[in-house]
This record gives sequence, C-alpha cells and structure tokens, in this order.
Amino acid sequence: MTGSLMEVLLVICLALLCSSASGVTTQVSYDSNAFIINGERRVLFSGAIHYPRSTTGMWPDLIRKAKEGGLDMIETYIFWDRHEPKRGEFDFSGNLDFIKFFKTAQEAGLYVYMRIGPYACAEWNYGGFPVWLHNLPGIKLRTDNEVYKNEMQKFVTKIVNMCKEAKLFGPQGGPIILAQIENEYGNVMGAYGEAGKSYIKWCAELAVSLNVGVPWVMCKQADAPEPMINTCNGFYCNSFKPNNPKNPKMLTENWVGWFVRWGGRKPHRPAEDLALSVALFFQSGGIFMNYYMYHGGTNFGRIAGGPYITTSYEFDAPLDEYGNRNQPKWGHLKQLHAAVKSVEKILTNSTSTTKEFGNANLTMYTNAATGERVCFLSNLNTTQDAHIDLQKDGKHFVPAWSVSILEACNKEIYNTAKISTQETVMVKKPDGAENQSAKLSWQWTAEPLEDRLDGRGDFTGPKLLEQTATTLDASDYLWYMTSVNITDKARTNAILRVNTTGHVLHAYVNGKLVGTLLL
Ligand SMILES: *[C@@H]1O[C@H](CO)[C@@H](O)[C@H](O)[C@H]1NC(C)=O
Ligand SMILES: *[C@@H]1O[C@H](CO)[C@@H](O)[C@H](O)[C@H]1NC(C)=O
Ligand SMILES: *[C@@H]1O[C@H](CO)[C@@H](O)[C@H](O)[C@H]1NC(C)=O
Ligand SMILES: *[C@@H]1O[C@H](CO)[C@@H](O)[C@H](O)[C@H]1NC(C)=O
Ligand SMILES: *[C@@H]1O[C@H](CO)[C@@H](O)[C@H](O)[C@H]1NC(C)=O
Ligand SMILES: *[C@@H]1O[C@H](CO)[C@@H](O)[C@H](O)[C@H]1NC(C)=O
Repeated sequence: MTGSLMEVLLVICLALLCSSASGVTTQVSYDSNAFIINGERRVLFSGAIHYPRSTTGMWPDLIRKAKEGGLDMIETYIFWDRHEPKRGEFDFSGNLDFIKFFKTAQEAGLYVYMRIGPYACAEWNYGGFPVWLHNLPGIKLRTDNEVYKNEMQKFVTKIVNMCKEAKLFGPQGGPIILAQIENEYGNVMGAYGEAGKSYIKWCAELAVSLNVGVPWVMCKQADAPEPMINTCNGFYCNSFKPNNPKNPKMLTENWVGWFVRWGGRKPHRPAEDLALSVALFFQSGGIFMNYYMYHGGTNFGRIAGGPYITTSYEFDAPLDEYGNRNQPKWGHLKQLHAAVKSVEKILTNSTSTTKEFGNANLTMYTNAATGERVCFLSNLNTTQDAHIDLQKDGKHFVPAWSVSILEACNKEIYNTAKISTQETVMVKKPDGAENQSAKLSWQWTAEPLEDRLDGRGDFTGPKLLEQTATTLDASDYLWYMTSVNITDKARTNAILRVNTTGHVLHAYVNGKLVGTLLL
C-alpha cells in the first residue's frame, strides 16, 4: 500500500473515531467475564503513559502509537506533588495539563484509566506526595488520620471536579471509564493495624461519594470493600483471583521491564515472556490487561524517586524513552492484541474448561448456544517443547514456555514464542552523533543552596537533620561538616565509621583528603 493511500485511510479512521467520541456517552459496567461498554461485552488492553514523563509535543505520537499497537486505553497516575507544589497553589501547565492529555487520548479513540491515588509510588519523588504534606503538624500519611484524610479528600475531589467540568468521565461523553483510589496499599497495610483497615474503608466511601459513574479499582488490596475491584500487579497474574467471584479478573500492572538504578544493569524482559504472561492471563479468565509501562519516558528535573533511580524511566517498555517502537516487543504485542480481540466475543460470553493434555494445558471456551469455541494451549515447561495431538482439532506444536491461541480450537492464530515482527537494532553512528552534539548548546546551573535551609543558610547543630523538613524538598543536597581532634597517641590507627545511606563522604586528615565513599 502506498504511503499516501495509508494516510487517506488513517484520516478517514480518525474522523470516524472523533465523531463517535464526541457527544456520545459511555456506560460502563462489568461482570466476572467482561467489561460491558454500552452493552457490548469487551476485554480491554491498556497501557501506562505518565503525562509528566514526556513533553506535550510527544503526547499525540505516543498515543497514536498506543492505539496502533492495539490498546483500548491509556493509564496514568495523577501526581499530587507536581500539581500542588505549595499548599493551595496549583499548577496544571505544560506537561502537567492532564486534562489536555486525556483529551488527546480521546481524540485518538482511546479510553482513560485514571489512578488518582493520591499516593502513586511510581519511582516518583516521595511517591507523589508533596513535601508540605509531610510537614503538616500532626499528620500521619496513608492512614486513619484526620489531617491526612482532610488533605487527601480535598485533592481527590478537586481532580474529580476538574474532570467533571471538562466532561471527561464516560457517562458525560468523556474517555475516563476506570478510576483507582490508593495504590498497592495491601503491601504496607499490616504496619498500620486497625487504622489501616478503617482507612481503606474510608477511601472506598470517598470514591463512591464522588459519583463519577465509572468502576473503581484498588490494586493489590485483598480486602477491598465492594464496589472496589481488587486487582493484581505483577509479572504473572494467572493464578490471581479477585476477592469477589462476581468481579472481573484484572491485571492493572504487568511489569514489561523494570526501572534502572544508577550504576545498575539495564533490565530486559523478552517480548516472548511478556506475551506469555498476557496470553496465560486471558487463558485463566482475565479480561483486563494494563502494561506498566507502555511508554516509561524520562524523569525530568527532580521527579525521580529513590533511592538512586536514574533519569531515564524507559522500563524496556513497548515504546522507548524517545517514543520509538521498541521492537520486537511493540509488534509482538500488537499481534497478540489482535488475536485476543478476534476471539473477544467468545471469551466474554462462554464457559471454560481446562485439562492437562500431554505436556500442555488446554483451556476451551465454548458459547453454550452457538457452540463457537476458542482454545488456549499452554506449555509451561521451560525446556521441553510439546507436540500436542488434539485429534479432530489437529496436531499442534507448542514450544517450551509458550501459549498458543487456537481459533475454533483447531487453527493457531498466535503463539507467544513465535516472533514474526521485526527487530529494531539501535546503531550508534559516531560521525553523525558528533556533529549533532556539536550543535547542541549545554547549560548548567548551580543549585542556590544558601536559601534552602529554611532560610537559615549554614548553622551548627548537635545532630543530623530531618532532610525533607529542612530543605522543603527544594534540593537533594545538605552538606554536613564535622571534625574530631585526636590527641591520644594510642588512637592513631582510628577507623571512621559512618552509619548512613544515600550520602557521599569526603574524609580529611590534617586537611588532606584521604578518601571518598558513596554510602
Ligand atoms: C497446567 O496448569 C497448572 C496450573 O496452572 C500448572 O501447574 C501446570 O504446570 C500446567 N501444566 C502444563 C503442562 O503446562
Ligand atoms: C451471548 O451468547 C448468547 C448465546 O449463548 C447470545 O444469545 C447472546 O446474545 C450473547 N450475548 C452477547 C452480549 O453477545
Ligand atoms: C520439563 O520436561 C522435562 C522432560 O519431560 C522434565 O524432565 C522436567 O522436569 C520438566 N520441567 C518442568 C519445570 O516441568
Ligand atoms: C561532521 O562534520 C565534519 C566537519 O564539519 C565533516 O567533515 C564531516 O563530514 C561530518 N560528518 C558527518 C557524518 O556529517
Ligand atoms: C581541634 O583543635 C583545633 C586547634 O586546636 C581547634 O581550633 C578546633 O576547634 C578543635 N576542634 C574540636 C572539634 O575540638
Ligand atoms: C545504624 O543505624 C540504624 C538506624 O538508626 C540502627 O538500627 C543500626 O543498629 C545502626 N548500625 C550500626 C552498626 O550501628
């Protein structure tokens, strides 16, 4: 197909999507087998793109590539610390304009899954909490504490009201059809005891009271109160079961790769393994898949959380830091999405049975009335390929550690280990690169440290300071200087022990540098 014909078709498609998106309301409900969108039974693919981790200029291209890659939905947290850097002073400008981001998704024909939190984690500075919150007298974060709950309620309500005013929720004709309150609280809840349990109940009540008209999830929250849907985050979630059997089985963070620490290795999750985890999830009754991340992007400024998270948040995601397709991952998933979508009608309206079949597990979905079928054949042996004879449904080769999707149970339309998409190979071109970088103009600026110590400049104290309270998070740096006079001759072999972490230490003896350590 010629380029220009492609473009004409694209324009026509976009025009159709735009017209169907505007003015039409989206009603969302669910049962254990499907999301039901305007009466249609659906499985959904979603991908995380955090709006402040790219530039506004990148948004349309990232979202277009997400749509082209077979996604139905974009997911993002809302980052409280960026939006309310000082208490009561808000910023929604530039790449903090999440309303514009959501509208961009809608224009491309995609839904939105909004994770308000307001705790995000996300390898983000202080998990997305503003530092002024930390410094409020009497506050305890993420628990049944009036000071905290009051601030959380104010912020969450503000965000929801902004979305309502912009008519962004599904029933209003907008793209948001899924919302999340809190985030992986189940991981830390134990430490809060009874207060943690009542806090989660309060979060659920707050969410319901906001009346957004779309389902709410709580990820990794085994005791999520109805109507909150508890969901799984992980590399594999096939054995996960929601706490209410009437709720859909959802994977809200499939970790497509991982973040990098300074000096650490660049992580890689092979496309085959990611695809296996997705196919296995659908084989085991899953109906919702969100990739964390679809585009990881960049930790601009000081947004990287700690300890030691790098500036790049690429995550080995299907779109690389700069928005290029990370192949074969992007293409292999695109084909998987198309395969699952082609059998969506059967998956969401049938009963399933699973049995061991030779070296593999065969799961068969059958629509009771029409008899239509789709099968998944999984071979979870990591070394041994399987040759499966399904008798009248034919013979099938299922490589080690892979899942096949069989249309009508007899025709393989996808296998997670068989990659037919092209590979991207990044080539470093020294000449071109040299000439390019010569054209860039670099600037640096010193952090104005003096006015950061609560306005106190340098001073003398008897102990280490609580850093966030001292710097108000305007800097990562505090310089401590101390000295000891050793007069006792018996102590000339003294060893200096410093019990700390996240610090750089320079040690001097009689004014002479004797060593530097990264602690
Ligand atoms: C079949 O599924 C069960 C349960 O998920 C798993 O333990 C087993 O390893 C699978 N067997 C094969 C051959 O893949
Ligand atoms: C589900 O399947 C039944 C037949 O088993 C059919 O009558 C019904 O229309 C289907 N529902 C949807 C929403 O497709
Ligand atoms: C894989 O299959 C081989 C050969 O049948 C068997 O020896 C091995 O235990 C299996 N490994 C796993 C992890 O199931
Ligand atoms: C880079 O610049 C140098 C000097 O202008 C030029 O000689 C060389 O051909 C350039 N290389 C490339 C790859 O453009
Ligand atoms: C160490 O001795 C020097 C010189 O006598 C003095 O100026 C300094 O204050 C002493 N420092 C401490 C920590 O005692
Ligand atoms: C280092 O500090 C921590 C926290 O204050 C303390 O629990 C630990 O025992 C200390 N370790 C040593 C070797 O002093």
